[in-house]
Amino acid sequence: MGHMRPLSETWEALRALELASLPPALRARLSELWARDALLEHASVASFSKFSLHLMAVAAPPALLHDAHQAALDEIQHARLCFALASAYAGDPLGPGPLPLEGDLLGALDLPTITAAAVREGCIGETLASLEASEAHELARTAAPREALGTIAEDEARHAELAWKFVRWALDRNEAGTFEAVQRAFTEALQAPASPLAPEDPLDEALAHHGRLSERRRGQLWREGLFEVVRPAAQALLGRPV
Ligand SMILES: [Fe+2]
Ligand SMILES: [Fe+2]
Repeated sequence: MGHMRPLSETWEALRALELASLPPALRARLSELWARDALLEHASVASFSKFSLHLMAVAAPPALLHDAHQAALDEIQHARLCFALASAYAGDPLGPGPLPLEGDLLGALDLPTITAAAVREGCIGETLASLEASEAHELARTAAPREALGTIAEDEARHAELAWKFVRWALDRNEAGTFEAVQRAFTEALQAPASPLAPEDPLDEALAHHGRLSERRRGQLWREGLFEVVRPAAQALLGRPV
């Protein structure tokens, strides 16, 4: 499988990370930022487990169920890569604690609700995550984060594609309320007020060399992705302006 290849290269590159020359404040920031991503990737494993159960609740075809499980495995790999990077920068092994799973994890199981969740988390969330990882990959000048981000960008793009495929399938059921729920989920995201851009940070450039987009650039990229990538795709999917 194509996405397995960069992993071993990343381990090689991790050993070659020249940490001694990095200022301690930069190392600490890098470790913190990679650990933050690692926890999000770790939680994404559970999101795809939930999505798999949602697919079964609406009798989705096996190809989608297969891809959802594959995506959960990809997220395990992303969590490993990000924890490996966070640990390397920290000089200490880091890993996840117990994931809080209390409460109503699955939510309502009707097709409109499940499809709207796939719009938010997949069509929007995974699409923007893949744009972010791919730009961070291009800017990274250090081999280990660059390799990891290459893998992550490729996988997140495939996860986004899975979400768009599922939503297409769900719309084709022609069940009452699904079209409206999908349209509403896109409209809410597109109409959400933009949060103010983060100020520039003196560490931004050094962070980018280690695969970290600045908070400021992340904010811009999410807006751009939402309006230039998600919106046209949503309009094509729904066959009307959103
Ligand atoms: Fe991921
Ligand atoms: Fe993902």
